[in-house]
Amino acid sequence: MCGIVGVLAEKNAASMAFAALKRLEYRGYDSWGVAFKGGKSIEVLKKTGKLPESFSFQAGSGTALAHTRWATHGKVTEANAHPHLSNDKTIAVVHNGIIENHEELKHFLEGKGFSFNSETDTEIIPNLIQLFMGEGQSFKEAVRLSLKKIDGSYAVVAMHAGERELVAARNGSPLVIGLGKHSIFAASDVPAFLDHAKKVVYLNDFEMALLGKKAEFFDVLTGKQLEKDVEEVNWSIEQAQKGEFPHFMLKELNEQRFTIKKAVQQPKGIIEKVSSMIKNAKGVFFVGCGTSYHACVSSAYIFSHVAKMHVNVVLASEFRNYEEFLEKETLVIAVSQSGETADVLDAVKTAKKRSSKVVSIVNVMGSSLTRLSDETIMMNSGPEICVLSTKSYTSQLAILLLLAYVVAGKQVEGHELVEKAAALSQKVIDESSAPAKELAARLKNSRDFFLIGRDLAFPSALEGALKIKEVSYIHAEGFAGAELKHGTIALVEEGIPCIVFSTDQTRPLIMSNAQELKSRGAFIIGIDSKPNKLFDYFFRVEEVGNANPILMILPIQLLAYHLAVEKKLDPDKPRNLAKSVTVK
Ligand code: G6P
Repeated sequence: MCGIVGVLAEKNAASMAFAALKRLEYRGYDSWGVAFKGGKSIEVLKKTGKLPESFSFQAGSGTALAHTRWATHGKVTEANAHPHLSNDKTIAVVHNGIIENHEELKHFLEGKGFSFNSETDTEIIPNLIQLFMGEGQSFKEAVRLSLKKIDGSYAVVAMHAGERELVAARNGSPLVIGLGKHSIFAASDVPAFLDHAKKVVYLNDFEMALLGKKAEFFDVLTGKQLEKDVEEVNWSIEQAQKGEFPHFMLKELNEQRFTIKKAVQQPKGIIEKVSSMIKNAKGVFFVGCGTSYHACVSSAYIFSHVAKMHVNVVLASEFRNYEEFLEKETLVIAVSQSGETADVLDAVKTAKKRSSKVVSIVNVMGSSLTRLSDETIMMNSGPEICVLSTKSYTSQLAILLLLAYVVAGKQVEGHELVEKAAALSQKVIDESSAPAKELAARLKNSRDFFLIGRDLAFPSALEGALKIKEVSYIHAEGFAGAELKHGTIALVEEGIPCIVFSTDQTRPLIMSNAQELKSRGAFIIGIDSKPNKLFDYFFRVEEVGNANPILMILPIQLLAYHLAVEKKLDPDKPRNLAKSVTVK
């Protein structure tokens, strides 16, 4: 939700902050703003809507802040956009998170004569800092004391008109410090500064950084100085750029030719270690949200078929209802691209409260989830910038499939299967691209899509529907093949597109469900390794047994992309969505 940036540079800090913000745009795009030094005062520029491609700043040396917003507190207006200033206009703050006791703090500040210009909770922070500085505290200490008053979550960067330093801190929302040769950054995510810094320091909750000539770290609660490890990131700036592709979604979708295979190239021993944790656990729960949840649903089928094992799959946001069933020997496997989704972190905290073990499957290095887990399997997909998950989904499926095979003692078979799917992904993407574009042009005005699949193809129907909805704003629903007729078939009319995922194992039954739809006039789009007379349109996807979900989703990712493009929508930034949802 919201992307924040703080930059300290010899020159052009405002332009650098803007460029960094551009790479965080996927985190929110309701409105944006930049603050920079203009002589002795702070200049603030705020706009509603998406970030422009470029923006030129007349001044802005030393320090600058930037923020891209996904509204939680207060409507999308310029007044509510960040950065927010203190009443005396000497302090600017950008914030990601939610201040739960903001009403109480607002009354407290109003009692001291402060007034407020926005409906946000954030405006409290610069004013608290002003209050503490007025009482004689240093800038750094005033920020620390202000944060101690806040209940809730924050990633915060603050600047002062009269200081050369920035102060950054986190509790519950992501923040990473980038140490470049000529610049220092604080940002919500690494891609923001990849062109300037590859050395990073990940802040833990209740840690703060004083960024000046060097970076120093402190405990927010005690003020004690901390020694922090500097880590090197292995992502490249090219990975965070669109390159020759018109959109990140198309770029990332195409990268699946490589990422599926990379997902199972894991450091020695980790897959074996996690599989033995699974085998020895007293109950296994897979948790996730959105697309990652669909990968979890898939894993339930895979573990049942391959490892002959029952696993529980729970939406991360609902996991607390299972708390009383968690024991020390229970294993919770949290699946998340970002590693920052608040509901997932909350589920993991529930597990930890009960002393259960936690394994995470994550893409973003250093993310909060990695630091809460006993073991982490990295997805190795590279940065995923488009709000929609594409390559991270198939990487998750590949890892979960391999784990199930290793649990079953069939490691070689598991690797071979994923590698077969990875090799075929190239063919499926290439052969589906033109038909997906043609089909999208034909179906762009559809009101609904229905998707059906049985067994392992059922989660593919759920995920396919999510992809279509998120990016094209066309209503789409995924069902287990037999379930559509228990109600929703009442909506099927002449010409309604219905996508049928069919595999060798499920073909006889799913075709009878497809026939039920066809009899009511549905336009049937088949995803299958074999053509069928029921199909009005057909995407050929090779049969790869338990790895079918990895390949079957590819044509629908392409179809969803082209539906958005046909409708002149931005596939990378669908309305109302954010890539990482850091609020519950
Ligand atoms: C958001 C995104 C979805 C994503 C979900 C879970 O809602 O818009 O695309 O699937 O979060 O994200 P995670 O990073 O935990 O996989």
